[in-house]
Amino acid sequence: MVYPIVIYGSPMLRKVSEEITPEYKDLHILISDMFDTMEVSDGVGLAAPQIGKSIRIFVVDATPMAEDDSSLEGFRKVFINPQIIEESGSKWGYTEGCLSLPEIREEVERPSVVKIKYNDEHFNTFEETYNGIKARIIQHEYDHLQGVLFTDRVSPIRKKLLKGKLNNIARGKVKASYKTKIIK
Ligand code: CO
Repeated sequence: MVYPIVIYGSPMLRKVSEEITPEYKDLHILISDMFDTMEVSDGVGLAAPQIGKSIRIFVVDATPMAEDDSSLEGFRKVFINPQIIEESGSKWGYTEGCLSLPEIREEVERPSVVKIKYNDEHFNTFEETYNGIKARIIQHEYDHLQGVLFTDRVSPIRKKLLKGKLNNIARGKVKASYKTKIIK
């Protein structure tokens, strides 16, 4: 099943999401639906709050970008109950977008390395270190579970300039190639 994407203006995008247990009902279906929704919407990452669920899961799939960057080959996975242990390395700027913020693209500075602990779909625990684009995608999706959007991380001047666009999204004045929805 493909879910509509919950967009800016929905209070649930601002909540800290809750951890889940292995008993979470129909977890495998939810994960597969999240991959389907991400694919249809042309995203490289999708967090559960973006489909209206305030739980700590995100999926990533950067394999379409692997043509230009072979290090991204096979980077398609699910992170359950993730916890960022440490961010390190020098900050670098990269232009980000987000399915919940259609038509907005802004440069965001983030540390280049991230160490993360998470469970996979069988609730095996992993602790891994990522850098470059992989780290970037993880940091962006992790932010969603903390109620943070990438536009929170741009410079104060850019923020001011974005205000009108953000207000339009919150009023439903938005064009996207996928189904969107505001949950009040
Ligand atoms: Co996003």
